[in-house]
Amino acid sequence: MVVPSATIDSLLKEKEQYPPPASFREGAWVRDERFSRDAAKDPERFWSERAKEFDWSRPWSTLLEWKPPFARWFVGGTINVAQNCVDRHAASARRNKAAIVWEGEPGEKRVLTYAMLMREVNRFADVLKALDVKRGDRVTIYMPMIPELPIAMLACARIGAIHSVIFGGFSAKAIHDRVEDAESEVIVTADGGYRRGKIVPLKRTVDEAVADLPVVRHVVVFARTKEAVPMQAGRDIGWDAAMAEADPVCDPEPMDATDPLFVLYTSGTTGKPKGVLHSTGGYLVGVATTHRLIFDIKEDDLYWCTADIGWVTGHSYIVYGPLANGATTFMYEGAPDWPHPDRWWSLIQEYGITILYTAPTAIRAFMRWGDEWPKKHDLSSLRLLGTVGEPINPEAWRWYHRTIGGGRCPIVDTWWQTETGMVLITPLPGVTTTKPGSATHPFPGVEAEVVDEKGQPVAVNKGGYLVISKPWPAMLMTLYKDPERYRQVYWSQIPGKYFTGDGARIDEDGYFWLMGRIDDVINVAGHRIGTMEVESALVSHPKVAEAAVVGRPHPLKGQALVAYVVLKSGHKRSDALRADLREHVRSAIGAIAVPDEVYITEKLPKTRSGKIMRRVIRSLVSGQEIGDTTTLEDPGAVDEVRKWLEAIEGKGP
Ligand code: PRX
Repeated sequence: MVVPSATIDSLLKEKEQYPPPASFREGAWVRDERFSRDAAKDPERFWSERAKEFDWSRPWSTLLEWKPPFARWFVGGTINVAQNCVDRHAASARRNKAAIVWEGEPGEKRVLTYAMLMREVNRFADVLKALDVKRGDRVTIYMPMIPELPIAMLACARIGAIHSVIFGGFSAKAIHDRVEDAESEVIVTADGGYRRGKIVPLKRTVDEAVADLPVVRHVVVFARTKEAVPMQAGRDIGWDAAMAEADPVCDPEPMDATDPLFVLYTSGTTGKPKGVLHSTGGYLVGVATTHRLIFDIKEDDLYWCTADIGWVTGHSYIVYGPLANGATTFMYEGAPDWPHPDRWWSLIQEYGITILYTAPTAIRAFMRWGDEWPKKHDLSSLRLLGTVGEPINPEAWRWYHRTIGGGRCPIVDTWWQTETGMVLITPLPGVTTTKPGSATHPFPGVEAEVVDEKGQPVAVNKGGYLVISKPWPAMLMTLYKDPERYRQVYWSQIPGKYFTGDGARIDEDGYFWLMGRIDDVINVAGHRIGTMEVESALVSHPKVAEAAVVGRPHPLKGQALVAYVVLKSGHKRSDALRADLREHVRSAIGAIAVPDEVYITEKLPKTRSGKIMRRVIRSLVSGQEIGDTTTLEDPGAVDEVRKWLEAIEGKGP
């Protein structure tokens, strides 16, 4: 198992402890350990109590139906997620409370109250209906970080359509594959969005993506940048024009709690992205409960999660969790260092943001840019900080605590995945004494273990596989159109338990320490990239015969991709070809998957049976190994790969 440097550091510093400040504890939703103990005793009761806080159009008859590996929560109940996230608040004292506070990268500002959001969601739901989108149909959304993105998602939820949001950084090819898999007939996009002062041409990318997909009947285009974009007559529709004609009332569809709410594609160990399918009732209850208790959400908080809505973090903790709780969620469209590396800190000061949820990779970038940028601003409105996406190295944790949190804000290091839908391992800020680098304990009502290959719990401080022992409400339903793959990826390694694919250990105080991925998925800047996906992109280049892609520790991104490529005969290596290969990956997947280094080599090290020895390459390239690799690979193979790597490095890329 390969261990990122973060964990090595954490091994050294873990004695350090940060109890919750007394003033924080006093006002927190959860202030004593009893809460978690009670939930552990009777998780079903815990979840059923939480679920009662929502508006159900019909109450459930069975809380959980567990036919491994398929869990169905709130069976028999009907509910509408958009109604719970919007109408419920618009009909209460929160009607004129800000639901979404937004700033565009060029500096425009917008506030949508719950009443305003309700009008927009109703209208757009009616637009979708008029385009003949029905319950169960898939709608692909490819948009910048503007309020119309959550409006489109909520409109889908309102009429029971399943949304598939694609991150705005993905390429035309990636969109093509996802639209094809989801069979989306309608796509919602914008002309473009802003990123570091430039326009990202979203509509043109969509045009390229769907040119040969007759399944796409309509593309709705929001005018964000107002630059002229080609509009295909009959297919393309302007957002504003459609909204002007829409009915301002569109009744919410009562959905079965076990109906799907959305599909979100994520990287796997094979070339094909997995369509993670999330439910309606269980997902809503899971994300709302975790959001309220982990971020200790109060009526007057201004909460900012800096993720992009294209990732699960944005789905659960920018849109559904906060709005389900009637909170105010802040959204910013652009880059953190635009026009200067203090954009975030100036936003926090200007708006008085109280809770900040971000990723270790961003924290490390800010550390590198220097303390002078946050120091220019008054960050005293902050009361709580969070991180997600990868293990946070204790040095970054301490910098975040001191420089951003002024030493007074608890930090919640939240572990979860696209598949888990909601946070599963995390501190509760009013009760948990934190240790920098540890995500601490399972959330109340969640049962997690660290086990060996046989499913037996490992000893204290021994590394093993993180598994979740019981279903939880926001658990994925299945992989879209592929229940067999769902079973095989998550439920075949350790019978009866959900296999996370992460390594972990539990220390003598029962704290969980996450140790990174154990499969061929690596974590670049907090996002999962399947190395196989990048390999398939590389071998689709006409000059490439074979490729192996591995991760190597990177000071900012956590991990960076390194590619080893064998050319088809007759081709020579050159800088131009390497640049061409990187460009090829960019257009196949997107900038996030472009390898930092591409080595062109004569051959790849293989086992006798002909398999590329990726695991050995990976552990040598990352320079850190733990566990007993000798049992995994024969020691001769390790030497062979070492020599091969030295020869490559000697020759240069
Ligand atoms: O390896 C874990 C890491 O991110 C993976 C999930 O990636 P993704 O589905 O893209 O979702 C990211 C945001 C939820 C996990 O398998 N990971 C996520 N959070 C943490 C983490 N590793 C350590 N500590 C965390 N807090």
